[in-house]
Amino acid sequence: MEQLLEKIESYKKEIEGFKAADVKAVEEFRIKYLGTKGVVKNIMGEMKNVPTDKKKEFGQVLNDFKLFTEDKYESLKSNAGNGHQAKASGIDLTLPGDEMPLGSRHPITLMRNRIVSIFERLGFAVAEGPEIEDDWHNFTALNLHEHHPARDMQDTFYVQQNPDWLLRTHTSNVQIREMEKGVLPIRGIYPGRVYRNETVSARSHCFFHQVEGLYIDENVSFADLKQTLYFFVKEMYGKDVKVRFRPSYFPFTEPSAEMDVTCFICGGTGCNICKKTGWVEILGCGMVHPNVLTNCNIDPGKYSGFAFGMGIERPAMLKYGINDIRLFSENDVRFLKQFTSTI
Ligand code: DAH
Repeated sequence: MEQLLEKIESYKKEIEGFKAADVKAVEEFRIKYLGTKGVVKNIMGEMKNVPTDKKKEFGQVLNDFKLFTEDKYESLKSNAGNGHQAKASGIDLTLPGDEMPLGSRHPITLMRNRIVSIFERLGFAVAEGPEIEDDWHNFTALNLHEHHPARDMQDTFYVQQNPDWLLRTHTSNVQIREMEKGVLPIRGIYPGRVYRNETVSARSHCFFHQVEGLYIDENVSFADLKQTLYFFVKEMYGKDVKVRFRPSYFPFTEPSAEMDVTCFICGGTGCNICKKTGWVEILGCGMVHPNVLTNCNIDPGKYSGFAFGMGIERPAMLKYGINDIRLFSENDVRFLKQFTSTI
């Protein structure tokens, strides 16, 4: 009996000091102490030699020993899984991890979000339309008749298999798609990418971005158009910027206008950017042509509206001092990582 207790004590010491460098050693521990022919089982077998009056007391000691061994086994197991094993296999988990570079928004996205959010505050809802479009939505419904120069192969990318399909040349196609839905009034802002068959250079590209606006309701007037765009300009370029409207022509609006703002580089005194005029053109606009409303099953006798369209690249280039439009689409991180704003 005494002997047995001494044996248990010495096993306990042995177990306490056991160190397992890897999973294999942990398994060796399990087999040696907790296996079917292991130490614990063995000592349990001694129960039969213990006198009956000592059985209860000895049973307690044995049970404690078993729990002690099992606890040790659990702790060896979890430590081995926590890196001791990795260390043994040559991986040092204390080394710092690879740094994740912080992303930033593309300058076109930043400018797009700025423009769109100003109109959202006026209650304009964002929508998008397809970049591969049919002739109806890109041209015909917009009152661009069959022989209009804008349809020229020089400008438009047509889909070879089906010349009725093309890459949209402007975001005005979204106007038509939204009006065709037949839900009035409409107050929408439509950003997107457009394509034109132009020679790529520092100043022009074969794809770029626009934001289109559309407002259709009863009694919408040119005064509403001007007020909306004045608000936009003040929010976008500041309170001191002056605005001028010049008469213009677009087949889908009547009357049509182009809007200029005082050059935000020189403040209106004249520089290279504004070609010494002091003004920069920022958008085209006008009252939606009655033919366009009719094409979309809207009664021009009851409803009227205004539309406008502006490019994103030019204001972005001016704001960020970018002198080559091709930089936007080259995906050079040295360029992109300079735009860290979160809007
Ligand atoms: N779609 C025209 C363009 O790409 C821009 C434009 C002008 C849009 C007048 C309009 C508008 O909605 O009313 O040049």
